Amino acid sequence: MKTYKIASIPADGIGPEVIAAGLQALEALARRDGGFQLDVTSFDWGSERYKKTGALMPEDGTQQLKGFDAIFFGAVGAPDVPDHVTLWGLRLPICQGFDQYANVRPTRILPGIKSPLEGVKRKDLDWVIVRENSEGEYSGHGGRAHKGLPEEVGTEVSIFTRVGVTRIMRYAFALAQSRPRKLLTVVTKSNAQRFGMVMWDEIAAEVAQEFPDVTWDKMLVDAMTVRMVKNPQSLDTIVATNLHADILSDLAGALAGSLGVAPTGNIDPERRYPSMFEPIHGSAFDITGKGIANPVATFWTASQMLEHLGEGDAAKRLMRAVEAVCASGVMTPDVGGNATTQEVTDALCEAIRGENI
Ligand code: IPM
Ligand code: MG
Repeated sequence: MKTYKIASIPADGIGPEVIAAGLQALEALARRDGGFQLDVTSFDWGSERYKKTGALMPEDGTQQLKGFDAIFFGAVGAPDVPDHVTLWGLRLPICQGFDQYANVRPTRILPGIKSPLEGVKRKDLDWVIVRENSEGEYSGHGGRAHKGLPEEVGTEVSIFTRVGVTRIMRYAFALAQSRPRKLLTVVTKSNAQRFGMVMWDEIAAEVAQEFPDVTWDKMLVDAMTVRMVKNPQSLDTIVATNLHADILSDLAGALAGSLGVAPTGNIDPERRYPSMFEPIHGSAFDITGKGIANPVATFWTASQMLEHLGEGDAAKRLMRAVEAVCASGVMTPDVGGNATTQEVTDALCEAIRGENI
């Protein structure tokens, strides 16, 4: 039997509630499958630790995570700690330290969840957004000078490297190739940004040569928002820079009916380091402790994690079970139901144990 070492970092807000739900689902899957087990180690890193010690994670945090097969991450962010501190104190050091350069964000309309788009059918919206996750607008390059004076300046420099762009393009083209429609849209802004973005376009065209069976097109990011709303069925796989994909993936989540069900995988495709899987929704302090956090995004990202670990059957079974539970109407209030986190989780585990899933 295979054993996967999983590092769980529930962190802040509803993170611990959804991670607990996700671990129950994974446990039920492992028991049903019989071919693998999970050895989970939990880390108490996050904003509480920051308030006590001045750091969200220990200095050798990434070192401690290195030997794991994957990281299962809840959410980070607290009302009384600035967002840039929590982000740069935990999540980004892991993403960047482990060179998880491909951020993969699947979007579909789950059964029982209503898209705000009039007349759109479930099959019309089936996307995967590939977000460049190591550089671009999130490179952390910049500074402030003449602080507090009238002539104060702040710079925020985007960095695009040939290596960084080429590898994310290759990842996106290969992912598009693995999906039935073999269709990729490259998002850009090379009309206004004439250096990094023009190089981005050139490299897309170069990499496209390696994938002659993939149909691809290019969209300016502003026009892309319109196409996502007006013509969702014309899209399949999408690749965009760190910031563009950040924005587009919120729109994608909203169009699919709820950002509360959206998952994300921060992946090191070369598998030199553990990859990290998390729900997109964040810490949601308004509902923390109420027992009503939607665990679906965490189930979905658990499925991404299983897929990455090579447990494709269990990954697919988990998504079939999620769809069955959503279709049966057992859902949390954010998506129109009245179930608790635990009730959704129990229904899911029950479905996983079922004959037909
Ligand atoms: C996301 C989030 C983060 C991001 C926030 C929390 C900084 O919005 O994963 O999309 O912008 O990367
Ligand atoms: Mg975002």
